Amino acid sequence: MKQLRVLFGSCFAAVCGARAQQVHSIGNIFRPLGDSADSVSKVSVLTLSICAVIFVVVGGLLTYAVIRFRSRGNDGTEPAQVYVSNQIEIAWTVIPILIVFVLTMSAARVISTIQDKREPSDAIKATIVGHQWWWEIRYPDLGIVVANELHIPLNTKTNPKYAFLTLESADVAHGFWVPQLSGKVDVIPNRSNKMWIDARELGVYLGNCAEYCGTQHANMLIRVVVDTPEDFDKWVAQQKMEAASDETAGRQTFLSLNCINCHTVRGTPAHGKFGPDLTHLMSRQTIASGMIPNSAQNVKNWVSDPQIIKPGNLMPDMQLDDKQLDQVSAYLTSLK
Ligand code: CUA
Repeated sequence: MKQLRVLFGSCFAAVCGARAQQVHSIGNIFRPLGDSADSVSKVSVLTLSICAVIFVVVGGLLTYAVIRFRSRGNDGTEPAQVYVSNQIEIAWTVIPILIVFVLTMSAARVISTIQDKREPSDAIKATIVGHQWWWEIRYPDLGIVVANELHIPLNTKTNPKYAFLTLESADVAHGFWVPQLSGKVDVIPNRSNKMWIDARELGVYLGNCAEYCGTQHANMLIRVVVDTPEDFDKWVAQQKMEAASDETAGRQTFLSLNCINCHTVRGTPAHGKFGPDLTHLMSRQTIASGMIPNSAQNVKNWVSDPQIIKPGNLMPDMQLDDKQLDQVSAYLTSLK
């Protein structure tokens, strides 16, 4: 019960704490803030409008018929029966065909406009790898590997900035979806899918894995952090640096444990690739793929037993004694 309370408290803080930093919520699909999200939004509004008209017409006629032709008393006679009407047959064949045609063409147009966008030479390139249940984010041109929080620069008319993403999976099918920035794109094993995003407002955009991928699918959140170009460059410069830490004892303990088989800390012998890169762990806002805020206490709770916080995740309970736990947590939280 206590663990539950810790967990819910943490989740609550992850949402509410982040609010303070201008977070664009997951839910608001009607407020697109990127070019491709704009196109998707327009075609969605068109589809919804057509559906609304159909609903009103069909619902209206039905209501009218129910009231107008309701049984009045019990005179035992049937209303007049109509057996063949060419006009009605033609109407309910042709109208749906026209509607489907309009929807198909408008959707096809949006899909091709988005897919055909030419990649600018200065585009930010990132490879996003879906794992059960977190996101690995690589910037091959910049030599940076991070997790769960994708940084991109702000897109403005005077300084256009686009991020072109390659989506891959390390295990099962996932889905990359940050609703206010773009439509959903599947992340499929043994396949590279491409997409691009941009954002015209600073802040943090929330997204989630959009393809059921196992027990912790719902806790596979993604954050897109949109910085000014200057802040983005600063972030890149900082991420490029090797790990620096004064926690010598903690560092030694960390390197003596199995942690290094799964995690990388650049500048140390830890080169594992299964788990998130920890070189600048504390530069991220959250841990456990956006599930809980990144704080010293949460990092310690996580290392103590990750299975309590995120049951089924691939990091085992390391069975550390108290001293090891303190040292490893101190080391990890020194990785700024
Ligand atoms: Cu990854 Cu659902």
